[in-house]
Amino acid sequence: MAAAESTVYAKGLEGVIAGETAISNVEGDVGRLTYRGVPIEALIELDYEAVAWLVLFGTEPDAAEQAALKEFLNEESVLAGSDRVLLTSMSTDLHAMQVLQAALPALVATPRTDLLRELDEEARRGLVLVSKLPSLVAGYHQLSLGNALPEHVPGGSSLGNFLTQFTGSAPSDASVAALTRTQILQIEHSFNAGTFAARVVSSTLAPVEAVLCAGVGALAGQLHGGADEAALREAQKVGNAAVAPTYVTDLLARKGKLMGMGHREYRKVDPRAKLLKPMAVEAAFAGAMAKRGKELWANVEFYKGAVFKALGIPEEYFTALFAMARSIGWLAHFIESREDNRIIRPKALYVGR
Ligand SMILES: CC(C)(COP(=O)(O)OP(=O)(O)OC[C@H]1O[C@@H](n2cnc3c(N)ncnc32)[C@H](O)[C@@H]1OP(=O)(O)O)[C@@H](O)C(=O)NCCC(=O)NCCS
Repeated sequence: MAAAESTVYAKGLEGVIAGETAISNVEGDVGRLTYRGVPIEALIELDYEAVAWLVLFGTEPDAAEQAALKEFLNEESVLAGSDRVLLTSMSTDLHAMQVLQAALPALVATPRTDLLRELDEEARRGLVLVSKLPSLVAGYHQLSLGNALPEHVPGGSSLGNFLTQFTGSAPSDASVAALTRTQILQIEHSFNAGTFAARVVSSTLAPVEAVLCAGVGALAGQLHGGADEAALREAQKVGNAAVAPTYVTDLLARKGKLMGMGHREYRKVDPRAKLLKPMAVEAAFAGAMAKRGKELWANVEFYKGAVFKALGIPEEYFTALFAMARSIGWLAHFIESREDNRIIRPKALYVGR
């Protein structure tokens, strides 16, 4: 078997094809991203639930399907009694990503409704967890402020309800629209570290709870999803564009990494960042990088913080919001990979004695 005898080795699996997917396509050389063949420029004009359906099941939903998913995400977002006990028993000074990783596999994942019964039983459980993630994030935020867990908001969109629960007041249409666009851009991104981690766990036939939890763990890291929080903290530390070039020059001299800059696949432009309105400070950062001979540009994490901050989301919750959207992508990969499963088990290059 040729594949088994292959000796391909690349640090960080750079350039290595590790599996097949029809969910999204990252064309790094031309700065293009599509979900199920549809470019993100068109996707951000759609409803969140329509994009979620497309990513999960590969077809554009009709009105009834879209309504069913919207209702599912709303109805199944209700935390069970034991979910509430779990959340309220946690220390209130944890990072939101720790809360998600700890709580997610222990939540009640059995659907409380009859909605979307046609789905595979395990995928349906996964979708319950996807529905509950916003309730966990908003609930933990309220608890950490010393408030009670927010009440369920019947009806409405998942993201609108999330903003109501998270901030404690009904959001404007403009806020919901801004969050929707940002979250659509974060739903899916092929074999990024978190999704690959989820696929590895899925390939062992571990339950869907463990699959989603693996995605959360990987996403938390600064080189991956955690870059959103780190990028905003770094921009705040820099303070203003005038001092940015000196900051960057010093950082690069120390071989440091600028958070929210660079990407494994997008070497010139991150199409998601392009859609999230460039800010002035990027020009200063990128100019200083170019002088050092590095072609590095802001990625999606660099701008997302500004959008989230304007919506009243503190930076320590940025990555948890990322997980809310990306959990849809992880579930899509769970469904896809189980259709033709083989355990993921690469070789190591042994360098010991
Ligand atoms: C995203 C990231 C992890 C990709 O890593 P990677 O594919 O291994 O990148 P590479 O190591 O091939 O980078 C090539 C060169 O650019 C440098 N570089 C890459 N990203 C950099 C950054 N953000 N700041 C400074 N230098 C950077 C590398 O140090 C390397 O320099 P060298 O050739 O002098 O050693 C990396 O760009 C990074 O750490 N970015 C900051 C974190 C971030 O924003 N992550 C979110 C991604 S959406």
